[in-house]
This record gives sequence, C-alpha cells and structure tokens, in this order.
Amino acid sequence: MSTLGSVLAWPEDVATLRIGFMGAGRLGQALAWSLAQAGLRVVAVSSRQEAHARALASPIKGCACMSPQAVVDACDLVFVTTPDSVIGAVCDGLTWRAGQAVVHCSGATEVGVLAHALAQGASIGGFHPMQTFGDPHAAAQSLPGCTITVEAEQPELMQGLLALVQRLHCLPNRLPVGMRGRYHAAAGYTSQFINALFDQAVRLWQTWGATEEEALRALLPLAQGTLSAIQSAGVARGMPGPVSRGDLSSIDKHLSAITPMGPQMLDFYKTLCAVTVPLAHQAGGIDEAQAQQFTELLKA
Ligand SMILES: NC(=O)c1ccc[n+]([C@@H]2O[C@H](COP(=O)([O-])OP(=O)(O)OC[C@H]3O[C@@H](n4cnc5c(N)ncnc54)[C@H](OP(=O)(O)O)[C@@H]3O)[C@@H](O)[C@H]2O)c1
Repeated sequence: MSTLGSVLAWPEDVATLRIGFMGAGRLGQALAWSLAQAGLRVVAVSSRQEAHARALASPIKGCACMSPQAVVDACDLVFVTTPDSVIGAVCDGLTWRAGQAVVHCSGATEVGVLAHALAQGASIGGFHPMQTFGDPHAAAQSLPGCTITVEAEQPELMQGLLALVQRLHCLPNRLPVGMRGRYHAAAGYTSQFINALFDQAVRLWQTWGATEEEALRALLPLAQGTLSAIQSAGVARGMPGPVSRGDLSSIDKHLSAITPMGPQMLDFYKTLCAVTVPLAHQAGGIDEAQAQQFTELLKA
C-alpha cells in the first residue's frame, strides 16, 4: 500500500495516488473530473445521495461509488468536498490511518477542522481553488490558469498538493496558518461583491425602464475593460472614472441622481467613492487639494 508520508517519492509518484471524494457537489464533480482528465487516479466517491455520487463517478474510468468509510479505506488522498458546515462532522465520523491524507476545499475553514484524522495518523491539508463553481462542466473548463491555495504542515503532503496544482495547470498559493478568514474575505471582494456592484448599477438602469438584460449588455464589456486595465496597470493606475480625472462636478451629479433611490444606495455609493479618492491620488490623477474637495463633497 502506498503512503503519503514515507513511501511515495513526491511529486513523481502523484499519478499513482488513489484519490477519493467525499461530497459530489459542484466543486467535487469539477475537481474530480479535472484530476481524472489530468491523468490522476480518481477511484472512489461517496455522497449523501447516491445519484450524485454516480454523476461524479460515471465519466471517470475506474471510479466507484461507495460508503464514506470505504472511500477512506480505498484511498491515499481524500478530498472532503461537502459544505463547510459539515466538513468536521464528516471527518470525525470516520476512521483514518497513518500514511494517508485528507484535505478540504474550503476557503474560510481552518485545516484544524480535520484534527480527528490527524490524531489518527493521517496528514491533513487544504486545497482551495480560487474560482466560482456553478455548473460543474463549465467550472472544470475554467479551472486551468486559476490559483489554488494549498496548506499542509507535513512537507510531503505540501509537495504532493503542489504537484496536483501543477497537473491541473493552475498556480499555487501558500497561506500562513490562521489567515483563512481574511483570505476568504478578500476573495469575496472579487467574486460575490461584483454581483453586489452590478445589482446597484442594474437598479439605476431599471429606473428608466431598461431590463436587466439590456443593462448587462452594456455594463459587462465596461467591467471587462476595467479588469483589463487593472491587469495591465494595477489597482490604482488602472482605475477609470471621474474621481481618477479629478472631475468633481460629475460626482456631484451622481449624488443628486442617486439621492431619490434612498439612503442605503446613496451611502453605499459614497462609501465606494471615498475608497477611490486615495487611489486616484496614489495614481497621480488628483493632488492633495482635489482629494480634500472630493472628501468634503462626499461628507456633505
Ligand atoms: N462552489 C464554489 O464556487 C466553491 C469555490 C471554492 C471552494 N468551494 C468549497 O467546496 C466545498 C463544496 O462546495 P460546493 O459548492 O461544491 O457545495 P455543494 O455543491 O453544495 O456540494 C456539496 C456536496 O456535499 C454533499 N454532502 C452534504 N452533506 C454531506 C454529508 N454529510 N456527507 C457526505 N456528503 C455530503 C452533498 O451531497 P448530495 O449532493 O449527495 O446531497 C453535495 O453533493 C465547500 O467547502 C466550499 O467552500 C466551493
């Protein structure tokens, strides 16, 4: 039997690992298919509903559906891909052994949630792809090029997880222990908070009778242009808009236009606008005095 800590020579032997999944949801399916596609041996899966386990297993040659304990017994490396809230309970309910490893894929959950497996001699870690997993087929397509945050105290497991990242054509990121709350909050700004920003913009479009579809047709290319500008020039220098040009009167017009939409929307706009002022200053688009004028306008 292969073991993670001592027998396998990482990363050359990563292809010989027997990999299992606990939880056949959006991420579980996409990751299992991607690993299999990359030539890794995904051999076992368990999920709450057998139909979902079968959906994960059926496209993968040699992958079988089995009980949670049977997955643990059959595999060298087990991915717990259940919702965050049950990762600990799922791990606690199983018997682990020395030489195998268990990792979860949560961004916010500390690896210590797998302490029960560690106490039984298994290695524990984290493997968090920084990507949105909706439709598993689309998610599997979008995985190459993404960053995957890996965490493991045991050097052999760390080496193995890095080898998997490489096999998936992803980029590795290492996270110090205890930083997951901050790290996951940071990810939120560039994932679900983008939805929050679009919501505000679409609501303004809807005030003159435009549909969400019409608004998105216009707004999405604009957002993509901003992303390209950030990619080429950075956060501050890649920032477009009136504040970056020192255009105080446009911001004044925005505030008047948004006021009838209610205090919550106005406050949110002002808060966002206030964050852009030091960015514009940092990029050299406005001087100290202009920055002060913006700040006073937003406080008024
Ligand atoms: N979705 C994303 O965008 C994303 C991105 C990065 C990281 N993650 C992380 O990936 C993990 C999974 O998220 P997800 O979005 O894939 O969730 P999901 O789509 O809700 O899938 C979770 C799966 O876990 C199974 N499950 C639930 N309770 C279980 C239990 N007690 N025992 C065994 N299986 C159980 C469910 O089973 P059945 O379907 O069989 O009922 C479901 O298939 C989470 O840690 C999440 O933070 C998700």
